[in-house]
Amino acid sequence: MARVIGGLGTSHVPAIGAAIARGAQEEAYWSPFFEGFAPVCDWLKSAQPDIAVIFYNDHGLNFFLDKMPTFAVGAASGYRNADEGWGLAPAAPFMGDAPLSWHVINALVEREFDIATCQEMLVDHAVTIPMSLMWGEEAHRMCIVPIAINTVQYPLPSPARCFRLGQAVGDALASYEEDINIVVVGSGGLSHQLDGARAGFINKSFDLMCMQQLVEDPDALTEYSALDLVELAGSQGVELLNWIAMRGALSGKVRRVHSNYHVPISNTATGVLLLENASGGPA
Ligand code: DHB
Ligand code: FE
Repeated sequence: MARVIGGLGTSHVPAIGAAIARGAQEEAYWSPFFEGFAPVCDWLKSAQPDIAVIFYNDHGLNFFLDKMPTFAVGAASGYRNADEGWGLAPAAPFMGDAPLSWHVINALVEREFDIATCQEMLVDHAVTIPMSLMWGEEAHRMCIVPIAINTVQYPLPSPARCFRLGQAVGDALASYEEDINIVVVGSGGLSHQLDGARAGFINKSFDLMCMQQLVEDPDALTEYSALDLVELAGSQGVELLNWIAMRGALSGKVRRVHSNYHVPISNTATGVLLLENASGGPA
């Protein structure tokens, strides 16, 4: 049977991709961020997951405001990236695992999640940045199952709904018959707001509280509404919904392997949180 061995929450600021492209990881501005990722890479090297299931939000590359599913699951055998206008060279394609995607899709529909299924899906920086942070060039040898959560076009799904989506995905993964190790990723956040009157908004105490509750008491985060998150974390900080879904896919008890918080990268409070799943350790 498949095992969900761990979960990772990470920010996905496009400038991180630009820094990787020009080898700036050791510059003073960047080192507090990249050094915070080194223990994650070490853990991944030793845990050797076969698949990454990634909860993320599309920023207009695959879905636009005219057609915006609340939840969408990739069901392709490969996923392309394309120019999003951030000045990043498009990433090479990622491999998909269509049978696993359909297993998850069937289980979600069974659990009454009315998702969109995407047999073609462009993935944006919210997938490519975490992939290159986790695996560098090796990222293109990994299989992914991308799961998009709308954090862009109102109305947004609630934290409670995203947590339950994650739980349903976690149950589906644990019931998959292949003998594989899976890591679940939540991409985005932490607090940031890119435009409007509160552009530049950061809420360090809220971010740190969320990173703590994601370990100890994720249910507490489901008490917030999506609009509470917009107010407390900024209009793009609501990407925290992806971390909440990631946490839902883990069992009740987790062990924090590593975390790092650094402000700012570009306009964003960046966080990384690596959790080992109590009931899903590597075989
Ligand atoms: C930035 C942050 C994001 O989450 C994003 O999707 C794009 C840009 C930023 O801080 O620059
Ligand atoms: Fe974003």
